[in-house]
Amino acid sequence: MNVLLTGGAGYIGTHTCVEILNAGHNAIVVDNFSNSCPEAVKRVEEIAGKKVLLFEADVCDNRAIDRIFAENNIDAVIHFAGLKAVGESCEKPVEYYRNNIDSTLTLLEVMKKYGVNNFVFSSSATVYGTPKEVPLVETMPSGSPTNPYGWTKFMIEQILKDTAKANPKLSVVLLRYFNPIGAHESGRIGENPNGIPNNLMPYITQVAAGRLKRLGIFGNDYPTHDGTGVRDYIHVVDLAKGHVKAIDYAANHKGTEVFNLGTGVGYSVLDIVKAFIKVNNIDIPYDIKPRRAGDIAECYSDPAKAEKVLGWKAEKNLEDMCRDSWNWQSHNICGYK
Ligand code: NAD
Ligand code: UD1
Repeated sequence: MNVLLTGGAGYIGTHTCVEILNAGHNAIVVDNFSNSCPEAVKRVEEIAGKKVLLFEADVCDNRAIDRIFAENNIDAVIHFAGLKAVGESCEKPVEYYRNNIDSTLTLLEVMKKYGVNNFVFSSSATVYGTPKEVPLVETMPSGSPTNPYGWTKFMIEQILKDTAKANPKLSVVLLRYFNPIGAHESGRIGENPNGIPNNLMPYITQVAAGRLKRLGIFGNDYPTHDGTGVRDYIHVVDLAKGHVKAIDYAANHKGTEVFNLGTGVGYSVLDIVKAFIKVNNIDIPYDIKPRRAGDIAECYSDPAKAEKVLGWKAEKNLEDMCRDSWNWQSHNICGYK
């Protein structure tokens, strides 16, 4: 298949691009590089030993996207492009709603015009809001996100469900990611946050690299096994492989289907810190800080549906995630620069 990856130069997009090429598909990337750079796509080509067709464009730009569809025989779209910083979304909600929703609407319009009916969307566990119980199952209610970023994911899911209902030819797969960490085992591509990281693993790797002094652990009084927050961390390469299964599934089905992409195992912040120290033999100095506003005690998936329906299961463990995160960061102290 000719697969269009919007935001394909980003963290999850680059890893997925490698797996798409490894599976024998052709990859077409469109990215405006608002949170990435062309070098990342060059490295994808180097890892896969295959070419990627790269377009610099904004996915909200209908004319630019129309041209890409007109000139390339696209079979499937994986829509990663979006703004994703939770804190920033509270400060700039309009920018988040405009970018994330407009890009999706543009794609749906252009896909309809060119008869492209295979759509995979990067959703998030954030659509479940504050879980009443864990593990989270796809049938549990969504719709109480705690920030504008989360609401864009919730609203886009609804837009896609409505569009698939109105167009019986369209197949939509909503992938709800849990907490992707890790990097490709080559150490050539990985997560490259702008400024000081908000998320746990990039913060840890930057402390390990000496770019940041100490990790702050946000709360040790949660009702969890050691008092620190529990999440479902998933290796980004496992996550990427889930997308290959998703486009295959969408090629043979119609309507909307939702899948959790997680491991089903919850680890606490201290579990992660201790594993990172042990696997990489590097100390991570840390301080216990107050809870971070909006955080929840525990969030992990029930990934059974993805295994049963897509034939996908996460294969990598916490040791792999810690080793590969550090392998990437230690060889790229300043990211792609
Ligand atoms: P990322 O920022 O690394 O990648 C997103 C890419 O989209 C970037 O390359 C950026 O330049 C591009 N982009 C943004 N707006 C664009 C636009 N209008 N036109 C063209 N390109 C645009 O983020 P990521 O971690 O790879 O996340 C990919 C997707 O997965 C996002 O939609 C994100 O919300 C979602 N997601 C990520 C996580 C996570 O923890 N990383 C968790 C759940 C969901
Ligand atoms: C965050 C987002 C979520 C998004 C996900 C993946 C928030 C509130 N939620 O989830 O919407 O889908 O990232 O991008 O931002 N922690 C520390 N110290 C740190 C950083 C994090 O102790 O410096 C803790 C957090 O309190 C949490 C855990 O580590 O318990 C994971 O945090 P993080 O990596 O930010 O992910 P989430 O909060 O789960």
